[in-house]
Amino acid sequence: MQKFIIQGAKELKGEISVKGGKNSALKIIPASILSEKTIKISNLPQIEDIKKSLELMTDLGAEIKEEKDYIEINPSKINKYSLNPAWANKFRASIMFIGPLLARFGEVIFPHPGGCVIGAGGRPIDLFLEGFISLGATIEQKDGNYHLKAKKLKGSEYFFTQISVTATESLMMTAVLAEGTTILKNCAMEPEIKNLADYLNKQGAKIEGAGTSTIKIKGVQKIDAGEISIMPDRLETGSFALMAGATKSEITITDCEPSHIEIILNIFNKIGLPFEKGNDFLKIKKAKKLSSYSIKTHEYPGFPTDLQPPYAVLMTQAEGQALIHETIYDRRLQYIDMLSQMGAKVNTCDPHRAFISGPTKLFGKKLTSPDLRAGIAMLIAGLSAEGETQIDNIYQIDRGYENIDERLRNIGADIKRI
Ligand code: EPU
Repeated sequence: MQKFIIQGAKELKGEISVKGGKNSALKIIPASILSEKTIKISNLPQIEDIKKSLELMTDLGAEIKEEKDYIEINPSKINKYSLNPAWANKFRASIMFIGPLLARFGEVIFPHPGGCVIGAGGRPIDLFLEGFISLGATIEQKDGNYHLKAKKLKGSEYFFTQISVTATESLMMTAVLAEGTTILKNCAMEPEIKNLADYLNKQGAKIEGAGTSTIKIKGVQKIDAGEISIMPDRLETGSFALMAGATKSEITITDCEPSHIEIILNIFNKIGLPFEKGNDFLKIKKAKKLSSYSIKTHEYPGFPTDLQPPYAVLMTQAEGQALIHETIYDRRLQYIDMLSQMGAKVNTCDPHRAFISGPTKLFGKKLTSPDLRAGIAMLIAGLSAEGETQIDNIYQIDRGYENIDERLRNIGADIKRI
């Protein structure tokens, strides 16, 4: 197994560019099942989760031509509506294949998606199932698989009793080929959702309101060929910005959309972390002194749960006490013990809340990466700590951050992959 060895407390300097968004690409790829024509995707991040998604597409019969960050998918050859557990059991985003397969074939068989440690009970899919039923599907559970059937999906009205990003995207995609109009209420509003809707609309879909809490989809007969450049990863943008703050460095983040992390930038103004921004760049400057600021994770445009762990690392370097309150996932504060072992002053109240008091010096430690976002937080902590930090299980970082060690070395980090 590969690990990172970091010699920390070194100032970073220079420019780092942001790759295409993982959580956008993971929906654009399965959306191609809705069409029978060629789909061209550029700016695709070269990360583990995307590899798995493409393997799953190939397993279904799609032909894929790949050249670095550009791919062409020919979905006309897809001849299977059953998800191979070898992939579906390994990654949560396999759930994004269900709706498009159901819409195209009227049938789909799949196991409960796996591959995630942050949610309770293997992360539920009840909202997806309820949504498919409301569109007219029937469900049978047999031999550890779900079997959904719908001769013809029919537009309906569905209210999400919990706000879910992937469930919103999934039902929005599925309803595109349903007969009649679907209205989805209490939808998630993440920028990836609007991006997916804009892309599908260019292919002939009729989606209105994506990016707001009510989405209206008028069903169409077919979806045409498509072409898209994946939007910049807002979570990479946020991670790099928090990294600059925690390592007291001046970094320019390019090829990004600062407007997608507006809440983080507003907090930077409050805690005294100076920055300059343009439409597609963000320059984080050195702070004279950082003040602490409490956060509570919330659906977009609130504080993203995915940036909660790196923000906690930043708070170890801020003066005062900050409450970190995780409201979306049950196991997303697991990394906090590791931060404490590195010297952070942490007071855990319960599995969802912890106080961090700073500023404190961090010291290098042997760590392991429990999940993707805790992994990047450990990496940032290692870069700001004195001495050597070793991070195991870096597969969990590679899942979401392309070639991260080389990109960080280019801005002066002392990080080795062994
Ligand atoms: N939920 C249910 N039932 C469902 C679906 C979700 O109860 O059927 C619950 C979840 O257990 C959770 C809450 O709803 O408590 C919200 O989760 P959501 O469904 O919004 O998360 P997701 O759509 O599965 C996406 C991202 C996550 C990101 C969250 C929140 C993708 C592929 N994943 O997940 O990204 O944390 O939204 O913004 O888009 C990551 O990139 O590290 C990551 C985990």
